[in-house]
Amino acid sequence: MTIGIDKIAFYTPNYVLDLITLAKVRGDEPDKYTIGIGQDRQAIVPNFEDVVTMGANAAIKIITADDRAKIDVVIFATESGIDNSKSSAIYVQRLLGLSEFVRTIELKQACYAGTYGLMQARDYVATHPGKRVLVIASDIARYGLSTAGEVTQGAGAIAMIISETPKIVSINTDSVYMSRDVADFWRPIDRQEALVDGHLSTDIYKEMFMTLWQRYQSQTKHQLNDFAGFAFHLPYTKMGKKALDQIMHEATQQHQERLTCNLQASQKFSREVGNLYTGSVYLSLLSLLSNATDLKSGEKLAVFSYGSGAEAELYSVTLQKNFKNYVPAEMTQQLLSKRQVMSVDQYEAMFKAQLYDSHIDVKSDAIVGTKLFQFLGWQNGERV
Ligand code: CAA
Repeated sequence: MTIGIDKIAFYTPNYVLDLITLAKVRGDEPDKYTIGIGQDRQAIVPNFEDVVTMGANAAIKIITADDRAKIDVVIFATESGIDNSKSSAIYVQRLLGLSEFVRTIELKQACYAGTYGLMQARDYVATHPGKRVLVIASDIARYGLSTAGEVTQGAGAIAMIISETPKIVSINTDSVYMSRDVADFWRPIDRQEALVDGHLSTDIYKEMFMTLWQRYQSQTKHQLNDFAGFAFHLPYTKMGKKALDQIMHEATQQHQERLTCNLQASQKFSREVGNLYTGSVYLSLLSLLSNATDLKSGEKLAVFSYGSGAEAELYSVTLQKNFKNYVPAEMTQQLLSKRQVMSVDQYEAMFKAQLYDSHIDVKSDAIVGTKLFQFLGWQNGERV
C-alpha cells in the first residue's frame, strides 16, 4: 500500500514584521539578518490567535466531507500548547466539526514532534485501510524582545491529511533517527519565551544530520545524487545550508547546482515567516514543492527533521503523479503577500499582548489559553 501526504496546507497570522526595519531599530547590520541568518520577514501573532486557532485555520483549508467521514485520528504536534493537560487536538476536533469517534492526541518533542506524528499516521493508515489521519504541526516561536533569538522568531501551522494512494508524496519506510539528551534549547513550564544556546543548537543539528546521513547511506545504499532536493527543519534558513554544505561535495557538479537551486526553493516561505518549530520542516517541504521548477513525479526528496533537546530523523518521500496539481503554491504565496506590515512599536505591543502577564485581569489559574476560552465562551474564568 502506498501511504503519504494527500493534502497539505499552511496558515500564518495576517501580521508581519520586516527584519531590515527591526535590524535598524536594534542597531544591527541588516545583512546579518537577511544574509548571515537568512530571514527577511517574521510572522507576528495577535492576542486573539494561538496554536489551536492557527492549526484549525490550516486544517479547514483542506478538510472535505469525505475526509470528515474517514479521519480516525487527529494528531497535534506543538511545543507551545495552551494547556499542560488537555490536548489541542480536542479543540480542533470540535472546531472542525469532526466525529466524536476519533482519537485525539497532542505530541511534544521540541521541533521534532510533527515528524513523529507523521510516522504514526503512516503506520495507522497501514493497519487501517481506508482510514485517514489529520496531522497538525502548530507553534509560536518566541525568544524575547532584543534577544539574539529574536530575529529567528515566527509562527504558523501546517496541516496534512495522511492517506493511502496520496496525491502529493508517499512516505518511504527508510527512516533513520536518533535521540541524545542535550541542553541546547528548553522552556521551563512557567516561561513563554524559550531559552536557547543557539550556537550549541546549530552544532548539534549539523552533527546529527551528518550522523544520520551516514547511517542512512549505509542502510539504504542511496547516494546524494539520488535526491532531487532536501526539506530541512529551518529554525532560520541558513541552518539548512549549513547542514547541506557538509555533504555537498558528494554530488556531481551538475547535481550540486540543482540541489542549491532547490534548497533556495525550500527556504523561500520560511524566509517570509520565520521558525514554526514543529511545522518548520513541513513548511520547507511545501516551499520546495511550490517553488522548485524541475521536480518530476517518481523523484525522491530527503526530509531532515530536528528538535532540540535533541531528536532528529532523516527519511525520504517520493513525488506522486501530477503532484503539482495538488500543492497549494498560489494559495500560500497569496497568504504571505496579503499580510499587513507592522512597525516595530506595533510588533512589540502585539508581542507583549501574547504573554500571560498581559492577562492579569483574568482570574483563575486557567490563564493559559485565555484567548481560546473566550472564543469557546469563557471570560475572566467564568462561562459567559
Ligand atoms: N553581513 C552578513 N553576514 C553577517 C553579518 C553581516 N553584516 N554579520 C554577521 N553575519 C553572519 C555571521 O557571520 C554568522 O554567519 P555564520 O553562522 O555562517 O557564521 C551569522 O550572520 C550569525 O551571526 P552570529 O552567529 O554572530 O549571530 P548571533 O550570535 O546573533 O546568533 C543565532 C545567531 C544562533 C541564529 C541566534 O539568532 C539564535 O540563537 N537563534 C535562536 C536559536 C535557533 O534558532 N537555534 C537553532 C535550532 S533550535 C530550534 O529550531 C528549536 C527547537 O527544536 C525547539
